[in-house]
Formats: sequence, C-alpha cells, structure tokens
Amino acid sequence: MHVVRDKTEVREAVRVVRTAGQTLALVPTMGALHDGHMSLVKAAREIADHVSVSIFVNPTQFGPAEDLHRYPADLDGDLRKLEKAGVDLVFTPSTEEMYPERESTWVHVEVADRHLCGRFRPGHFRGVTTVVATLFNIFEPDKAVFGLKDAQQVLIVRKMVRDLAFGVEIVGHPTVRESDGLALSSRNAYLTEEQRTEAVVVSSSVFGARDMILAGERDPAHIAAAMKEEIGSVPSARLQYAEVVDTATIAPVDKIKPGDSLLVATAVFFGNTRLIDNQFVIAP
Ligand code: PAJ
Repeated sequence: MHVVRDKTEVREAVRVVRTAGQTLALVPTMGALHDGHMSLVKAAREIADHVSVSIFVNPTQFGPAEDLHRYPADLDGDLRKLEKAGVDLVFTPSTEEMYPERESTWVHVEVADRHLCGRFRPGHFRGVTTVVATLFNIFEPDKAVFGLKDAQQVLIVRKMVRDLAFGVEIVGHPTVRESDGLALSSRNAYLTEEQRTEAVVVSSSVFGARDMILAGERDPAHIAAAMKEEIGSVPSARLQYAEVVDTATIAPVDKIKPGDSLLVATAVFFGNTRLIDNQFVIAP
C-alpha cells in the first residue's frame, strides 16, 4: 500500500493505473476509521481495480464552535485497517497541500444546503464540496463511494457532479449500524455510557418515521411530531431538527403523495455531541 502526502505523487500513481487500463475508485474520509468507513472501502474494492482512500480532517467544513480541534485521529490504526482491506493508495495531505491559496476558491452547491444540517452548520457543505471537488480533480476517479449515513452530503455531492460535469460516478453505500441500531460514527466516541445507551433514540425515531410513511401517513407534521415526542422523552437528548424532505430539492414537504421520494432525517445533541441519522423512503 502506497501512502502519499503530495498531489503530484497521487497524479503519478493514477497515471500508472490509467496506463494499465484499470479503473479507480476513491473513498474520501476524515480518518478515525470504523466499520462504516471500512464497508465503503470494501464496496470500492468490488467495483474498481484500484482503490484509493483519502484521510484529511477538512478544516473548512467545521464551524468555529465545532469539534475540529478534538476530532479523533488514529493514523497508524487507520493505515493498518486499510492495508488489511487491500487498499492500493492512501492520500494523507497536509492542510497546505489541500489549500495552497488559503481558501480563496469555493465550490458551493446553493439552495440544497439551506435545509437540514445546512441550516444549522453554515458553510459546512461549502467546505465539503470544495474539498471533494479538489479530491476529484487530483484523482479523477471513475467512482467515488460515500455513506448514506450523511445523506444530505451524498445528495449535494451528486448535484455538484452533475452541475460541474465531473466524470465520476457517485456510489451511495448503506449505513452500517451497531446492534441496537445506532449508526456508526467517529463522534460516538465522545458519548458517555448513559448517552450511548440513550442514543438509540436517534435511529429508532427515523425508523419509526419511515414506518409511519410506509403505513400510509400523509402529513409530514404528524411524522415530525412523533419524532420530536420520542426524542424529547429521552433525558440526555436535545433535538436540533426532525424533518421529512424531498430527495431532489432537500426542501421540506407539505404533503406526502404516493411515489414521493423522501428523506426522513434528524440531528440530536447529547451534551456537545451531535449525532445524525436518516432513512430514505418511497411513499406508497
Ligand atoms: P467522514 O465523516 O470521515 O466519513 C467518510 C465517509 O464514511 C462518508 O462518506 C460517510 O458518509 C461514511 N460513513 C460514516 N459513517 C458511516 C456509517 N455508519 N455507515 C456507512 N458509511 C459511513 O464525510 C466525511 O468524512 C467528510 O465530509 C468528507 C466526505 C471526507 C469530506 O471531507
């Protein structure tokens, strides 16, 4: 496994892959890799000849009050896992390597970032799309694998790819969960034992909302109210949002119609730790 810190080294390695007529899949990450990340790597292994993983804690997608400076890191552990998973190349750039001009150019998918997490994390998705666009320019991958755990991120990256004609196929991979339903997240490590037990409400509320839609509920307000009630019943949980949105626009829906492609999503704080979860549903 090749571990490189410079864009030029990535480009050289990619040229060798291309010359051999092989396909390349990229899995962008911020490290502290868990089984959720590793399932993306495994999926990438199955759909391309060469698999690259990037590890970069992207400063531009963190707000001033967010956890950039305490974001978990374990590069040695990450590299061991990636080597075992048969990854070909790992890109671990410095901030200067990724942002040589001190953040002067942005890639911003407008409108779609006004909803859900975008409403509460101003600038977050602009940071994500800027770094992902940069990675796409460095690697020019055939495919890039993203987790549906971050559903809004996948939808926004797909829009960016379509709007700016990137030649990459975005592959969305299902959320990997703990046995009680909690979605794996690097941020779960921040939870106290009590918060960890109570955090099951995050997944159970989105599963409940999905089931209401599948059972024929047509009023998004009823669904949101049920989610709020369930999350509100847990002492350590503080709801940020619980919404039903249209997957095309990411805007909230007023009424659910048969065939609608919907995303149910929530963000919940446990102390300072913010957890998100979601479910995609086609309305019956
Ligand atoms: P990070 O949070 O490290 O996540 C990297 C990838 O792993 C993302 O595509 C995310 O959706 C996926 N992932 C995380 N938890 C998962 C789970 N439980 N099941 C399945 N996939 C999961 O997302 C980012 O980094 C950054 O925003 C990034 C795209 C790298 C840009 O900086």
